[in-house]
Amino acid sequence: MRILTGDRTTGKLHLGHYAGSLSSRVALQDKYDTFILLADVQALTTHFDNPSLIQSSIIDVAIDNISVGLDPEKVTIIQQSQVSSIAELTIFYSMLVTVNQLSHNPTIKTEAKNYGYKEMTYGFLGYPVSQTADITFCNADLVPVGEDQLPHIEMCRKIVRKFNDLYGTEITEPEARLSKIGRLCGLDGNAKMGKSLGNALYLSDDEATVNKKVMEAVTDTNRISVKIPGNPDVCTVYKYHQSFNSQESENICSMCKSATIGCVACKRLLAAKLNALLDPMRQKRAYYESHLDEIKGLIAAGTAKANRIGNENLEKIKDKMHILIK
Ligand code: TRP
Repeated sequence: MRILTGDRTTGKLHLGHYAGSLSSRVALQDKYDTFILLADVQALTTHFDNPSLIQSSIIDVAIDNISVGLDPEKVTIIQQSQVSSIAELTIFYSMLVTVNQLSHNPTIKTEAKNYGYKEMTYGFLGYPVSQTADITFCNADLVPVGEDQLPHIEMCRKIVRKFNDLYGTEITEPEARLSKIGRLCGLDGNAKMGKSLGNALYLSDDEATVNKKVMEAVTDTNRISVKIPGNPDVCTVYKYHQSFNSQESENICSMCKSATIGCVACKRLLAAKLNALLDPMRQKRAYYESHLDEIKGLIAAGTAKANRIGNENLEKIKDKMHILIK
């Protein structure tokens, strides 16, 4: 059974990526043949005017994935733009999706709003089609993703069913898998942590930065003094405790409600917990940042493997589509 998942290469990855997808990749890597896609074409859909960011992020995102605990000996790391079968499949799939379906995709709508797009490019609107090609070029069974990606996986399944029905192909219809930690809100309390929203804690942040960002996080804004009880239900810091400090979170909840812990002390506990999670990742990162050739070698080998698999599958698909002259 195969996993394919990936990240847009538009900057370093943050704790929201870890909560939503990276943590489950790590947990599943021993059970599944794991493919990790450095989605640089999808990065272009929003950042086509910033090629240098995309270039540095290809390496950064690969390092992020390995430093959280993916085993470079086991997982296949792939650069999307260099896998030609993904681009070809995207074209074929695009015949089976209407513009209307794409413009009603809730994630596309939210992202277009966040980016302030009055009009969408063809490439941006169509990225779920290209994502369908990402997932299916290697017949992936499982796609560990955050909640925001569910509409895309649903669309992928629909396209695959339609394609298989039409041409008699046997492309695998994949399933999404949500992580145990789940969606993480931003430090400012925004429903989503996002690079473009400026409310993120990066996996590459050092200890001092984590401490500072946690101190500035939004808590219960009605709790203007340590002496009055807080409401954990509206507190960002408490949500983080639930995600990353589950053992202590009940206790913290009751201390907050009874005003026996203040926000500063509560934040210190959280920052310590997050730093303990990030420390081993920082050590791995330091190693790879000084051994970039190893990272580049891994990407090259993974991409070559992806091309072999993709070309073979594409040949079969084209045959079924009757577009090969014999
Ligand atoms: N759209 C995903 C995100 O924004 C990234 C991605 C690209 C992806 N291709 C993929 C995720 C294929 C899963 C499978 O996080």
